[in-house]
Amino acid sequence: MLLKTLLICLVARETLACRSKVDHASIATTESPQNDQPTTASSGQPSKDGPLVVTPAGAIRGSWMETRRGRQFKAFRGIRYAEPPVGELRFKPPVPILKYTNEVNASEEGPACPLPVPPTYYIDEDCLTINVYTPNKNSSKPLPVIFFIHAGGFYSMTGRSDLAGPHYLLDRDIVLVTINYRLATLGFLSTGDALAPGNNGYKDQVVALRWVQRNIRAFGGDPDLVTIAGCSAGSFSVMLHMISPMTKGLFHRAISISGSPINQLPDRNDLYSLAVTQAELVGCPTNNSKAIIDCLKTKPFRELGDSLPGFFNQFYDPTLLWSPVVELDFGQERYLDMKPIDAVRQGRMHAVPYIISQTHDEFFWKAFPIVQNKTLRDTMNSEWDHYAPISFQLAKDDTAVISAHKLRQAYLKDTPIAENRECADGLGKLYADALIGFGVHRLANLMCRHSPHKVYYYQFAYVGNHSHYEDPVTNKSLAASHHDDLIYLFTLSYRFPTIEVSDSTDSLIVDRMTAVWFNFAKYGDPNPRGNELPELSTLQWPAMTPTAPKYLKFDKQFSIEENMFEDRFNVWEELYSIQY
Ligand SMILES: *[C@@H]1O[C@H](CO)[C@@H](O)[C@H](O)[C@H]1NC(C)=O
Ligand SMILES: *[C@@H]1O[C@H](CO)[C@@H](O)[C@H](O)[C@H]1NC(C)=O
Ligand SMILES: *[C@@H]1O[C@H](CO)[C@@H](O)[C@H](O)[C@H]1NC(C)=O
Ligand SMILES: *[C@@H]1O[C@H](CO)[C@@H](O)[C@H](O)[C@H]1NC(C)=O
Ligand SMILES: *[C@@H]1O[C@H](CO)[C@@H](O)[C@H](O)[C@H]1NC(C)=O
Ligand SMILES: *[C@@H]1O[C@H](CO)[C@@H](O)[C@H](O)[C@H]1NC(C)=O
Repeated sequence: MLLKTLLICLVARETLACRSKVDHASIATTESPQNDQPTTASSGQPSKDGPLVVTPAGAIRGSWMETRRGRQFKAFRGIRYAEPPVGELRFKPPVPILKYTNEVNASEEGPACPLPVPPTYYIDEDCLTINVYTPNKNSSKPLPVIFFIHAGGFYSMTGRSDLAGPHYLLDRDIVLVTINYRLATLGFLSTGDALAPGNNGYKDQVVALRWVQRNIRAFGGDPDLVTIAGCSAGSFSVMLHMISPMTKGLFHRAISISGSPINQLPDRNDLYSLAVTQAELVGCPTNNSKAIIDCLKTKPFRELGDSLPGFFNQFYDPTLLWSPVVELDFGQERYLDMKPIDAVRQGRMHAVPYIISQTHDEFFWKAFPIVQNKTLRDTMNSEWDHYAPISFQLAKDDTAVISAHKLRQAYLKDTPIAENRECADGLGKLYADALIGFGVHRLANLMCRHSPHKVYYYQFAYVGNHSHYEDPVTNKSLAASHHDDLIYLFTLSYRFPTIEVSDSTDSLIVDRMTAVWFNFAKYGDPNPRGNELPELSTLQWPAMTPTAPKYLKFDKQFSIEENMFEDRFNVWEELYSIQY
């Protein structure tokens, strides 16, 4: 049950909140490696009649799919972009595939990378695959490309079409690319020495971006007009690609939804303690990094994937385990060679027009299982100094306890956590700001100062028929939760029904969200030009500036506001002040 919820839910912490969903979620429990039936409503027929594309790397055979508006498009799924990262290649940087010897059969879904899932869900360590979706057009002008990096805390989810379905965005004239990258220890092991400098999961993404540069033209995409977009862990990744020494010239616009690697946490050079935890969880020695790695290399990928829950405490915290590392120089190609914040402040970026966002309520629901459970309430109340730094991701130094107290004052008025609405609300806001809100806000403030390109900031506040947190009793959406904007950009058939074309508000929001992405991918500016996109006729979205920190509130209507959650974010600014 626990393992199953981990995939259904977005990150492991949602386990408690999502438990009521387990039995009826539309997860692909019928899937197996042998008989991998795609779960999306309009998956293509795998056959010799599938569309064929001849790329510089070789011929690729796909399948046909249909958008929610009934437009036929071509789907090429599960294409390997790197050598299978198995055996001696486990824990090594990705090795790109430049040529395919045979025609690639991309007519069916590839596996997800190892994570805890039911045994029937298709995962494999040989998971470095890319999916390309392109309109059925013969336009001479290549189309904008959107390269989507999936969410999941660097330890869950996948780019497969049941979690990142193309059926909404392909109603626009764009080429959509989704990918897998290695997760958890298999992707982000970092012992901080030459054996495992770290960041392999990001390097996977870079290799996929390079694949796009070489091959996307054959799919009708424009390699000179690539938008990288990501949510949560994907949003971290997007931001880091802007400052990585490995990514110059690989993209031209960027979208970061609900995630920032620049936040209240200190930067790190290694994740050695996680490597030790991983070793302990699967019975490996922990004497030194060589002993750890040699032993971890012998473990089946399922055992590593399934060990994830062992990394969390009783609150399913901390949410973020495998954070990016500033790699020390061992002669390897480094993904990150300096602190992200310094790179931004020094303008050492491949800056591009940037959309940055957070949702109105993010991880608010994290409060419920605590507030409703006497044991957890008592633990949190009596051991606040111990748990707050873990749960709210505070730097574990001398200031941690002081910060924990200040946050308790600000968000809980210094009262013990009790089973009431005020506590749930206060604790929910604290989780929201600690895990996502403050970091994103800091990122937007930094980028609008140091980037030579425009920064468009928005808050997703729309609450529709579905949400990533629904009340377990009424099944109703309560607020704009972490990942909720994705509901209107991608079909998420593992969990939600397709939003059919109708005059419902949800349907309108699909049109607006996809129009914003399309317009931004095409022009580097989300605002409408002429009458091309009537669904955006009411949108007038100014870029954010240091003196006018405006943002778009994306709700049933568009509105422009200023100084997002000023009182709350000021508390954090005082605790973790930086020179902007
Ligand atoms: C492609 O692979 C799928 C799944 O293995 C298989 O069912 C299908 O027959 C293959 N198509 C071709 C043309 O080989
Ligand atoms: C695109 O061109 C090919 C080859 O000329 C043709 O067979 C196909 O029908 C055209 N597709 C569309 C959508 O026009
Ligand atoms: C590794 O550590 C264990 C337990 O501390 C110890 O018994 C063992 O001798 C050590 N092995 C090596 C090779 O140092
Ligand atoms: C409360 O939380 C504890 C610790 O996680 C758990 O063991 C217990 O089952 C929970 N109680 C209820 C009623 O959910
Ligand atoms: C919530 O959803 C479950 C599963 O679909 C269903 O059994 C239950 O009746 C629903 N509850 C309400 C109040 O609609
Ligand atoms: C929710 O779904 C129902 C049934 O499809 C639809 O009638 C209604 O308009 C939807 N609500 C919103 C806010 O889109």
